[in-house]
Amino acid sequence: MAANLSCIFPALHLLGVLVLLLCPSCLCDCNTFPSIAHGSYEDVSSIFSFTTVVQYKCDEGYVLVGEEKITCRNSHWSSPVPQCKALCLKPEIKDGTVSLDQDQYVEPENVTVQCDSGYSVVGSPSIICSENRTWYPEVPKCEWMLKPPPDGRS
Ligand SMILES: *[C@@H]1O[C@H](CO)[C@@H](O)[C@H](O)[C@H]1NC(C)=O
Ligand SMILES: *[C@@H]1O[C@H](CO)[C@@H](O)[C@H](O)[C@H]1NC(C)=O
Repeated sequence: MAANLSCIFPALHLLGVLVLLLCPSCLCDCNTFPSIAHGSYEDVSSIFSFTTVVQYKCDEGYVLVGEEKITCRNSHWSSPVPQCKALCLKPEIKDGTVSLDQDQYVEPENVTVQCDSGYSVVGSPSIICSENRTWYPEVPKCEWMLKPPPDGRS
């Protein structure tokens, strides 16, 4: 029994040195997994690699900007945590156009609405694709400029 133990201890000692040299995730970790707004993460580390790898994924309607996977090295993450940016649908403008014609826009895109001739913008002409996937402020309207006088006589 005693002979067996003396055989095991040097092996454990060697393992300890290896562990310190390689700095595995169990001893030398980045303390927290950074969470992100509008997305989630998963620990995709392999048991056999001595690193912690986290993979990020965005909720539907959001796109990932930055590195999808980050690795813990010497207690620091390999790259900045990615962000999930909102996607906004093209604003519907009757009798007008948008400065940038796309199917989808990524936060914080700023577009300007221009009305067709004879129409004028009611609301803010500049709108921003905001974090909640809506345009801010509200999408303006294009209204015909020549209105009848307010008292109804014409
Ligand atoms: C959006 O763009 C317009 C026109 O270029 C500008 O006047 C406005 O300040 C911008 N808005 C923001 C929040 O950057
Ligand atoms: C969306 O965000 C804007 C500005 O960030 C806010 O003013 C607006 O109330 C929000 N809309 C909804 C539906 O939450």
